Amino acid sequence: MSKVALIVGGAKNLGAFLSVGLASDGYRVVVADLDLEGARQTAAEIAEQVGHDQVLALQVDATNEQSVEQMSTAVDAHFGRIDVMVYNAGIAQAAKIDAFPLDAWQRSIEVNLTGYFLCARSVSRIMIRQNQGRIIQINSKSGKVGSKHNSGYSAAKFGGVGLTQSLALDLAEHNITVHSLMLGNLLKSPMFQSLIPQYAAKLGVNEDEVEQLYIDKVPLKRGCDYQDVLNVLKFYASDEAGYCTGQSINITGGQVMF
Ligand SMILES: NC(=O)c1ccc[n+]([C@@H]2O[C@H](COP(=O)([O-])OP(=O)(O)OC[C@H]3O[C@@H](n4cnc5c(N)ncnc54)[C@H](O)[C@@H]3O)[C@@H](O)[C@H]2O)c1
Repeated sequence: MSKVALIVGGAKNLGAFLSVGLASDGYRVVVADLDLEGARQTAAEIAEQVGHDQVLALQVDATNEQSVEQMSTAVDAHFGRIDVMVYNAGIAQAAKIDAFPLDAWQRSIEVNLTGYFLCARSVSRIMIRQNQGRIIQINSKSGKVGSKHNSGYSAAKFGGVGLTQSLALDLAEHNITVHSLMLGNLLKSPMFQSLIPQYAAKLGVNEDEVEQLYIDKVPLKRGCDYQDVLNVLKFYASDEAGYCTGQSINITGGQVMF
């Protein structure tokens, strides 16, 4: 039987791309998201390509313990296992520290960090039973380097690295490996595009100059593409990566080198 990949935050944009990409690679895929309609649309796209029995759409609020437990139980009941869990859910709200709202800070910690903890804890119980698994968090270069006007996001993503390393230690004896993927800016994504007005203000430039300024920071001279992330994800999800765990893997075109 083919492996089962659960993508939390898989309804749209990067998460949808990864869901479709893993399905094309032979995984049975669970698309789980707060946005049930989006999850169903992505699942329908996958079903068209590989068949209805290969995919499941679920609603989950990754920040809610009960909702996460229901998700894992539903995946276990439907497919009987979880080989790979990708934690892709994330939010970013930008503001300078003196005007950073407490509720935006708390929401960032909840979605970017607590949700990762809840989903990893929940699927780890199934993976321990299997004595096999891969947990992969979608992180950001802001999880290794501070990010101006992004304190809530950066703090939560830094926390994700500590969680990844600790999970890797807890789960190594169960043949479960854990990684964070540290992405560069996905310039064409709605998340990045939504932040352009704030970035223009902080850099003191016009909004139409922002993308080029971010490209100029990258040694390989382009933004990160969804395909770059899928390429690396497929390797760390595979058996070939079995001797790697606890890593924070840069996918930044050379912008971050440690
Ligand atoms: N866009 C970028 O430039 C960029 C750069 C580096 C890292 N990342 C990271 O990549 C990941 C995906 O980014 P994106 O731009 O595709 O984001 P996005 O906002 O387009 O998608 C995130 C998905 O997570 C879901 N989600 C949000 N809260 C949730 C919750 N509580 N429970 C379940 N699902 C929830 C959303 O519904 C959405 O489908 C995020 O973790 C983000 O931090 C993005």
